[in-house]
Amino acid sequence: MIVGGTVRVPGDKSITHRALLLGAMARGASHVGGALTSLDARSSARVLRQLGADISPVRRGRTLSVVGRGRLRRSAGTLACGNSGTTARLLLGLLAGHRFAATLTGDGSLRRRPMRRVTVPLERMGARFTEHAGDGLPLTVRGGALEACRYEMPMSSAQVKSALLLAGLAGAVEVELREPHGRSRDHTERLLRAFGFRVDERDGWIRFAPTGRLERFELQVPGDPSSAAFLVGAAVMAEGGELVIGGVGVNPTRTGFLTVLERMGATIAVDGLTEHWGEPVADLVVRPAPLRATEVLAGEIPGLIDEIPLLAILAARAEGTTIFRQVGELRVKESDRLGLIADNLRSVGCRAEVSGDDLHVEGGMQPPRGPVRTAGDHRLAMAFAVLGTAPGARIDVDDMTCAAVSFPRFRETLRAVARRKRP
Ligand code: S3P
Repeated sequence: MIVGGTVRVPGDKSITHRALLLGAMARGASHVGGALTSLDARSSARVLRQLGADISPVRRGRTLSVVGRGRLRRSAGTLACGNSGTTARLLLGLLAGHRFAATLTGDGSLRRRPMRRVTVPLERMGARFTEHAGDGLPLTVRGGALEACRYEMPMSSAQVKSALLLAGLAGAVEVELREPHGRSRDHTERLLRAFGFRVDERDGWIRFAPTGRLERFELQVPGDPSSAAFLVGAAVMAEGGELVIGGVGVNPTRTGFLTVLERMGATIAVDGLTEHWGEPVADLVVRPAPLRATEVLAGEIPGLIDEIPLLAILAARAEGTTIFRQVGELRVKESDRLGLIADNLRSVGCRAEVSGDDLHVEGGMQPPRGPVRTAGDHRLAMAFAVLGTAPGARIDVDDMTCAAVSFPRFRETLRAVARRKRP
């Protein structure tokens, strides 16, 4: 394959969810440009409409308008969060600070994902939960008057961290948190700071004080680095050319994959750095490069958690054996991502194994060929589609439609930037 051109990727998923949630909590009309229009973003918009926010249709190329009423309102129906763990967990945090009951559910994948990681600390703050199916959805939350919270999180997770910060916001109480190792994405902290809330960090503790005021806002969402990562991967693996990906969010809590790729031998230029709402944004310029294996350390994992499928397929094209340390969290993503990365790599003729919570991937240059089972997991589908651009590859991904969870028109975009080399 040869890569070429200048592309943009869809809006950042994490920032879009947060903009919708904060817009629904603000009073008046906020506007969100460049928002993601994927299925996950639609899930957030849908449940927030049920909770009283007036949100314009989520359509590509349209600025979203979110009219909030200062608080969420009781909803008659169940809140269906689709495939979106971020919607469910962040919303549980916000609802914990509201004095009414609400029931959340999701699709088959989301119903299986653990929720006690947020309900246990939220319960300590004073919210009440009724589980309908063990540690998963459906789940009923009954919010109330909350108490301040000081909590050492058992895992680094931006969803858990954000749920507690949003509970602090809705309940007007202080929240202190500590993540065990590595920093997860900090978009919530940055947004809250932009509204004048005090969010400071000392000795590994994040301290939130309900000092600010949520006002209606105008926000431009940068391109999602997690979506850009797939195109970066295709460009690094290509046999020639250069790809420019414009307007990508380069928040350092999201760009761990660039650091790892550089260690593997890739050269990726970060050009034209600007900042918007406390978020750095830049163009990525990527050229093909031969890759060598690396060790990805436990402390690096939170900063590249969603890029592991992509890094794993690139490791399968690198010289040597790459080890990803302590990636057990991948077992509770949209699928058992850890098991499926290894199974699918083996299914296409590569060598990979899970050892405890570590993932080992041996590189090689044989054409990858065989079937891939995604279990409806968007990031697995896209990562293996990228591996399918390797010379001589013949990979049959069972479901590419799930890419729409985070990256609408992924296939068209990949096709537009990577074309076959003329013999
Ligand atoms: C997200 C946090 C991460 C990530 C997910 C989005 C967020 O999950 O995997 O895609 O927007 O806060 P965890 O917090 O469970 O690691």
